[in-house]
Amino acid sequence: MIQRPRRNRKSAAIRGLVEETHLTAQHLVQPLFLVDGKNKKNAIKSLPSMHQLSTDLALKEIEKCLNVGVKSFILFPAVEEKLKNKNATYSYSSKNFYLKAIKTFKQNFPEVNLISDVAMDPYSSDGHDGYIENGKILNDKTLPILAKMAIAQAEAGIDIIGPSDMMDGRVGYIRQALDENGFTDTSIMSYTAKYASAFYGPFRDALDSAPKAGDKKTYQMNPANQREALLEADLDFAEGADFLMVKPASIYLDIIHLLKQQFPIPIAAYHVSGEYAMLQAAAKNGWLDYMACLEETLLSIRRAGADIIITYGAKDMAIAFKKRKG
Ligand code: PBG
Repeated sequence: MIQRPRRNRKSAAIRGLVEETHLTAQHLVQPLFLVDGKNKKNAIKSLPSMHQLSTDLALKEIEKCLNVGVKSFILFPAVEEKLKNKNATYSYSSKNFYLKAIKTFKQNFPEVNLISDVAMDPYSSDGHDGYIENGKILNDKTLPILAKMAIAQAEAGIDIIGPSDMMDGRVGYIRQALDENGFTDTSIMSYTAKYASAFYGPFRDALDSAPKAGDKKTYQMNPANQREALLEADLDFAEGADFLMVKPASIYLDIIHLLKQQFPIPIAAYHVSGEYAMLQAAAKNGWLDYMACLEETLLSIRRAGADIIITYGAKDMAIAFKKRKG
């Protein structure tokens, strides 16, 4: 035998030398679910280990993450039903606790990198990402609402705006609105290839944000389509996105790979609530090793081409890396 691939696996030192993909805490983003009030820590049934946190307790969670090298956070608001309406007006109200939380986080930890969520669903009485009339999501009536939301978040001090709504033209619309209001340094991480996935279930439980009627298939992408991701990416890139995101992640590795090959800006992948809950559920039954399977999953997402991974396991992974280093 001329080629014996096992020779390059014969010791940990050699395996280290030839390791192709690296995963560190600096690649990871920790999602946080925020709730109004003080000293609140509400468990989320379908997302074990995650909680809805009030701002004071979220600050402690951020500190724990910073201590293990996770510096980026993506923030989602759990809004009381009585504050929701058709136009999602609470999303840009000066009373919005989510906007106040962004300010508080930046005051306490100026070094953190905060990513927002721009979509109507957590604030909408219809539970959809866009504005509805007669059962239809109206794209162009949604855009000004998204822009107001984005400007309010930029004013609060967010570092990166995260449009997750999948309306056409929203990246360009938001970019222009930000620039006109002086927020030329506020970045946009666009949910570029966001599929109409059943794996978002636990997230919608966490925020109580499931659609009241219908599904999201007229705006989120068909899981059967790959080339359509190129069209979405072309548009987002041309409209001024700073990052392109693929969502979900571990079951859409082909899409991550494709966008990484075709576009010169960073690719983010969102390892979503259902992907994470599966690992937790199997581990709870003693069927899988949670940490080992989490690491392998995140490594696969990196190997496919993701520069950045958003995962509910970010802190857990970073703690494990820190322990390994000693
Ligand atoms: C809101 C939004 C969703 C997720 C992120 N932003 C839910 C949805 O589109 O229904 C899902 C994240 C996850 O499942 O972890 N537009």
